[in-house]
Amino acid sequence: MSSSFFIVVITLFILGCQGQNPKRGLPPPQGQYPTRPPPPPRLPPRPRFPSLGGPLLPRQPANRPGPLSNRNLVLFITQELKRNITSDPQNYTGSWVGRNYCLFKGFYCDTVPDKNITGLAGIDFNGARFGGNLNFYRFIRFLPDIAIFHANSNNFSGVIRPNINKLRYFYEIDLSNNGFQGGFPVSVIGALQLTFVDVRFNTYNGPVPPRVFSIQTDVLFINNNNFAQRIPSAFGNTTARYITLANNGFIGSIPQSIGRTWQTLTEVLFLKNRLSGCLPYEIGFLQMATVFDAGFNTLTGPIPQSFACLKKLQLLSLAHNQFYGRIPDSLCRLPNAYNFTLSYNYFNSIGPYCKRLVNIGRLDVRRNCITGLPNQRSAAECTAFYSVSRTCPRPGSFNVITCSNPAASLSSAQVASLQAMAPAPSPVTYKALEPPR
Ligand SMILES: *[C@@H]1O[C@H](CO)[C@@H](O)[C@H](O)[C@H]1NC(C)=O
Ligand SMILES: *[C@@H]1O[C@H](CO)[C@@H](O)[C@H](O)[C@H]1NC(C)=O
Ligand SMILES: *[C@@H]1O[C@H](CO)[C@@H](O)[C@H](O)[C@H]1NC(C)=O
Ligand SMILES: *[C@@H]1O[C@H](CO)[C@@H](O)[C@H](O)[C@H]1NC(C)=O
Ligand SMILES: *[C@@H]1O[C@H](CO)[C@@H](O)[C@H](O)[C@H]1NC(C)=O
Ligand SMILES: *[C@@H]1O[C@H](CO)[C@@H](O)[C@H](O)[C@H]1NC(C)=O
Repeated sequence: MSSSFFIVVITLFILGCQGQNPKRGLPPPQGQYPTRPPPPPRLPPRPRFPSLGGPLLPRQPANRPGPLSNRNLVLFITQELKRNITSDPQNYTGSWVGRNYCLFKGFYCDTVPDKNITGLAGIDFNGARFGGNLNFYRFIRFLPDIAIFHANSNNFSGVIRPNINKLRYFYEIDLSNNGFQGGFPVSVIGALQLTFVDVRFNTYNGPVPPRVFSIQTDVLFINNNNFAQRIPSAFGNTTARYITLANNGFIGSIPQSIGRTWQTLTEVLFLKNRLSGCLPYEIGFLQMATVFDAGFNTLTGPIPQSFACLKKLQLLSLAHNQFYGRIPDSLCRLPNAYNFTLSYNYFNSIGPYCKRLVNIGRLDVRRNCITGLPNQRSAAECTAFYSVSRTCPRPGSFNVITCSNPAASLSSAQVASLQAMAPAPSPVTYKALEPPR
């Protein structure tokens, strides 16, 4: 938490980026296939914070902050929280004494843009492991200048109310691994400036309200809860670049509206749910996608030909499902193919490009039904699977190509050299699947 909270341009690990106002809707026909090197990352959009304009007071040292914004409110609620904390293994509260809250452990100050004096901009209680009956909403509502609230792995709970949107600078919330339960905290939606929403590892349950996908956020981590029911078709409204829905109880299929996220969606994890049905060809519109993981579900059908348009795709997993048919060879021509995992399905044939990827260790097709390859399912298993007739809705859509220059238009020499140059991926979302410390 060393950079300025209000002027910050980079949220934790978020690099790379997106233009200011992505237009929604399906993309127009695609232009040229990109050439390397990739364009330099642009800065992620930041909320527009109310400010006086003009140069502001630089951040002051914590021990000499000058006049403090909302001092009495902050001190009052901090003492209340302190009384409620019954366990404080890392002795945060020991330092919560005196009248300068900038010196309290876990508190970070910065200049408040519309006041031009120092205020409480950030709370970082990540991993503090506070015990006690701690009410998140009551606490934060007394912190009017807050921008960032990280409190994973504590015992905060309670209902989050719409008035949270009075917090005019609030843009980053991490409440993962706390004691929140019940339905999704839709009220956080009121805080329209959020760019980072992390509520994974709670015990939220029920459906995810469609409005969640209208939060104007860059990051939406809701993995490892007990969310169930279908993924709303409003999924396509999301502006998030990183989304984790993994390890929940979602059922039904991946919404066709996913194609509407074509300008933003970079990494998406659907793994370990109970999703079923066939893949929508609209996935092929995801020209920004580097990671797509729908492993460990009960999805079926062939891989749509449109996957040949996922020109940035580095990591793909469709493992442990019931996919079948021929693996489109164009998939294996994708220039950034780095680690494609299609194991534990029922694919029954592959072409020369895919064979090559298998040979160079970038495509895993173990436990399928591909004759001539090692480590396949038994003939009996394959015969049993294929003895049942299977179809997908919109069968014609599996041949739709969603771009004008699919991978299939690259020569084998181009493919080999692009793939050899493909950078090692450094996915952001997989880290979200590990419990917070
Ligand atoms: C903020 O305060 C500083 C120092 O007091 C002053 O130099 C600056 O002009 C102020 N900025 C605005 C926008 O009022
Ligand atoms: C907790 O921290 C305070 C001040 O930082 C210190 O005075 C106190 O001795 C510490 N208590 C424990 C139990 O370590
Ligand atoms: C956590 O908070 C709940 C109330 O939400 C309380 O029942 C429980 O005892 C608390 N656990 C700990 C370890 O403080
Ligand atoms: C402190 O505990 C009281 C009594 O349980 C509760 O009403 C209040 O909301 C709690 N405050 C905070 C900041 O957790
Ligand atoms: C999703 O976006 C569409 C079109 O912009 C809008 O009509 C709809 O209300 C949005 N859905 C939700 C749940 O916000
Ligand atoms: C490739 O991805 C799979 C599944 O996503 C993962 O289990 C495996 O460890 C990865 N392999 C390498 C070499 O990164």
